[in-house]
Amino acid sequence: EFKENTIIVVFGASGDLAKKKTFPALFGLFREGYLSPSVKVYGYARSKMTDEEFRDRIKPYFETPTEKSLELVDKFLALCSYEQAAYDEPEGYQVLTKSIEAFEAERGVTEPHRLFYLALPPAVFTTVAEKVKQYCHPGSRGLARLVVEKPFGRDLKTAKELQAKLAPLWSENELYRIDHYLGKEMVKNLIPLRFANSFLHACWNNHYITSVQISLKEPFGTEGRGGYFDNIGIIRDVIQNHLLQVLTLLTMERPISGDAEAIRDEKVHLLKAIKPLDKKNILVGQYSRSEDGKKPGYLDDETVKPGSKCITYAAIPLEICNERWEGVPIILRAGKALNEGKVEIRIQFKETKNGIYQNVSRNELVIRVQPNEAMYMKMNIKIPGVSTDVTVTDLDLTYSSRYKKFYIPQAYESLIRDVLNGDHSRFVRDDELEVSWALFTPLLNYLEGPQGPDPILYPYGARGPEPLSGFLEKNGYVYDARGDYQWPVTTPD
Ligand code: BG6
Repeated sequence: EFKENTIIVVFGASGDLAKKKTFPALFGLFREGYLSPSVKVYGYARSKMTDEEFRDRIKPYFETPTEKSLELVDKFLALCSYEQAAYDEPEGYQVLTKSIEAFEAERGVTEPHRLFYLALPPAVFTTVAEKVKQYCHPGSRGLARLVVEKPFGRDLKTAKELQAKLAPLWSENELYRIDHYLGKEMVKNLIPLRFANSFLHACWNNHYITSVQISLKEPFGTEGRGGYFDNIGIIRDVIQNHLLQVLTLLTMERPISGDAEAIRDEKVHLLKAIKPLDKKNILVGQYSRSEDGKKPGYLDDETVKPGSKCITYAAIPLEICNERWEGVPIILRAGKALNEGKVEIRIQFKETKNGIYQNVSRNELVIRVQPNEAMYMKMNIKIPGVSTDVTVTDLDLTYSSRYKKFYIPQAYESLIRDVLNGDHSRFVRDDELEVSWALFTPLLNYLEGPQGPDPILYPYGARGPEPLSGFLEKNGYVYDARGDYQWPVTTPD
């Protein structure tokens, strides 16, 4: 079901984000039949380019898994055009609106539906939001939606300032703050998993769960983005937003309904229950040159400040003070330039303490967000055959083997589709943002202040800083490698 004759304008159209994420996502939706051919897409930026040059620039990033999808590339590109203009002068916006209005008039549109996507650096962000409201909003005649990308400030104060500028212009209902982790299949799966399975629901608490860990590992460094990253660090880049979002969905109470506001109310509620972070109990690191000397260290990046103490790795324990979670250690950890790339959630259950089996492994539910979506529950069974001993196995739901024919949208595809449908459930609400910054700002101030610790160096390609295993164990996570258990890592075909 489509809203016909939708207008989509991507500001910052010549930038990296638009090229690598926004336009490929729009094409992906079009390819799969989730974006009507009656749509009109504008790219808007300062760089000088013809329509053709613009199309050639975005085209190489489109995914075309089948012959048929190749044919759709030109059809989609024919719907796209480019406008070169300044961000801080009215003219560009006026020209854009003229063109939009001409298109809508030609199609007989009476209730315009316009989506404005800001793929922009923070410096021009509010200027554009303001001008779009002033010159391109259809007013009460139709709908306008504004999609915004992080960074949403760099701490509580700046996030509030940004919000104070946006709020008088764009209502919360028109705003869509993207956190692309909320568009990932396994993250979208958390609500059904938790609230549609009574057996899980029954043990989802501190009586049965003994630790929770959410980790994001990347096998590459800041390559090329050092200058940007240096002012940000790993906490702002992926922990305060992506991992915290995953945590709220994993631990919040059941929303009173499936509505966006009901879900977001529960997320905020949960965030407010997190104890202030313990500055003394965190592990921070920065990667150095790889052991074989082939991969550069963080400080070898010329765009990084010499001697920078920017952290590229962090493991942060936290605790939720409510009846369900009190006493359960939770760890969020993320790092760049590690030994592998994966994002997963691990929930460990308490050991069986009494009776005949007192020395068996903990059950563990692993939700593999990426790569290769999967969910598996490690459990104890009798060794098959004559033996009566116990061993570890798993109930394994690996998507690539269970679901052959499904199209799993990319995170950005999924979220843009939500915007087109006016569904806010997978977007960050203003109060949610504020509580998450309130939680992390004191820690960031400490880390970046004069008392801040020096990050522990770890070589590019390592599992993390050397004290990691001991740190995780101290914070409740038992790496249970009893027996020769290994999850069968399957590669998708
Ligand atoms: C972005 C960060 O928000 O998320 C990047 O700025 C990071 O540094 C990326 O690499 C991770 O996203 P994904 O979807 O590749 O896991």
